[in-house]
Amino acid sequence: MSRLGILISGRGSNFEAIADRIVRGELPAEIAVVISNRPDAHGLEAARRRGLPAVSLPSRGLDREVYDRMLIEELRHHQVELVCLAGFMRLLSAGFIRAFPQRILNIHPSLLPAFPGLDAQQQALEHGVKITGCTVHFVDEDLDAGPIILQRAVPVEDDDTVETLSARILAEEHRVYTEAIRIVLSGRYRIEGRRVLSI
Ligand code: GRF
Repeated sequence: MSRLGILISGRGSNFEAIADRIVRGELPAEIAVVISNRPDAHGLEAARRRGLPAVSLPSRGLDREVYDRMLIEELRHHQVELVCLAGFMRLLSAGFIRAFPQRILNIHPSLLPAFPGLDAQQQALEHGVKITGCTVHFVDEDLDAGPIILQRAVPVEDDDTVETLSARILAEEHRVYTEAIRIVLSGRYRIEGRRVLSI
């Protein structure tokens, strides 16, 4: 059973969606540890309620390299094979990326490369796009930029607010993240340049 390490900073709904699918037998994996860089993250409480190892590792005031070494140590301690960023609001250092080569995934609430960075849903509304969505991608050293594993599109409605649009995207996030993890764990893909192709 592959061991997942989930990194969060807040609500943790993507983490919970992954955990639900594991419980239902839809993803052959186990959650080895949930780590939050914010001690008050709701997702930590949710992890504890589920009886999963939940670690608060506050990042405030720490140098990126120092923090990332602590993270690597914690993930290794829990024998994590695949790192899933799920609303983890911190950039990772090159050292961290090197520690888990092609073994770090992220989910982003837009159709990358459109609207990287913060407030992607608001960026989409402000730009006036008619379709947006979510992307699961491998993490490399650039922000929201690694090879794309899966994307799902959702329409932008005329009366959307950031809240309604975010909710529509989030429902897709909760499905697509598990699907992407399943692909990566199956090993049935190859990366050619920026393209993730199935084999
Ligand atoms: C999601 O919209 C995700 O795409 C983004 O941060 C949000 C995290 O939500 N990276 P949650 O903590 O999983 O509920």
